[in-house]
Amino acid sequence: MAHSSVTIRVPGEPERGYEIRIGSGLLGSVPSDVAEMLPGMRQFVVTDVNLVNHGHLAAMVGEGTEDVYVIDPPGENSKMLSTVENIISEMEQKRFGRDSVILALGGGVVGDIAGFAAAIFKRGIPCVQIPATTVAQADSAVGGKTGVDSELSKNAYGTFHHPAAVFIDCSLVKTMDDVSYRAGLVESVKHAMIADPEYFRYIESNIDMILERDEAALHHLAEKNCGIKGRVVEEDPNEKNLRRILNFGHTIGHAVESLSGFDLLHGEAVSIGIVGACRISQEMGLVSAEVTECAVEILQRLDMPVTITGLKKASVMETMKRDKKSIGGVPKFVVLDDIGTVHGVDGQYAVDVPAEIVEKVLSALDAK
Ligand code: GLY
Repeated sequence: MAHSSVTIRVPGEPERGYEIRIGSGLLGSVPSDVAEMLPGMRQFVVTDVNLVNHGHLAAMVGEGTEDVYVIDPPGENSKMLSTVENIISEMEQKRFGRDSVILALGGGVVGDIAGFAAAIFKRGIPCVQIPATTVAQADSAVGGKTGVDSELSKNAYGTFHHPAAVFIDCSLVKTMDDVSYRAGLVESVKHAMIADPEYFRYIESNIDMILERDEAALHHLAEKNCGIKGRVVEEDPNEKNLRRILNFGHTIGHAVESLSGFDLLHGEAVSIGIVGACRISQEMGLVSAEVTECAVEILQRLDMPVTITGLKKASVMETMKRDKKSIGGVPKFVVLDDIGTVHGVDGQYAVDVPAEIVEKVLSALDAK
């Protein structure tokens, strides 16, 4: 399959941007490509035990490499400061210094941890992201958000540390379990809904191929996702305003994700949140019912939940007040003027919504 690339220019970054290479089967050449991009830099890999078990680590660096930290157990429970300390301690013991680059091979959790370790090791070294899941390839590997959780909240410790490069090997998602694979596709639906009606129609018409993990379809998704997210990140790398559009579906989404005790996958929660944001847009008189119906249909074809089950409206309302977009405890929402167009008020994209509309929408989503 042909390779392609998208370049993101990040204002104010010393290197003035980074390249995202997209293709299938490019994993094995990542170390030599990175050596060409960053000559003389020692490479240290951060990955997790799933990637090792699926043979992806060996496919990238060969058998028996020692310059690697394997996160075990994989997943959100390892996203803590002690894992970052362990990575840094391992690098120091192996005498890695400022002439090093971290290669983050894995999903969103690996990317966040490795990116944060790179951001603070010796005051910052480059990180190359090699995302291996649908959510990481569509979203988290691009844009430079890094961090780990505290006991109380997600990403309590974190910083923006834009990657030196991103390598998207579309074949890596073939080893994902089915639910995580489908949940990761919700971020692609999100990108289409906030920026590109044609992309939305593409997903609608090609959903079977996408679910079959067809490489040409995955390549198209990666190009679209990186193009859309790349443009937003170029304009607003540190989320002052425009980048908030990437939080479409996330105000209700984050609340139900956290109230479920993280039983809901991020994509499942955002699916409910997208339907909520469409219904809010509808109640505000911005879009027709057809927009919500199209969202529900595409999300159901991904087998994603579109209603809230087992949660109280009051708890969702209370949790949303702690959303990062809230001001003075009042949650803000990203809403639409149409599929592909976010609604702005005085140039702001996270807007106030009357509490009675939010409550009505939570009821329509079946919150008790
Ligand atoms: N996932 C949203 C962002 O990167 O801003």
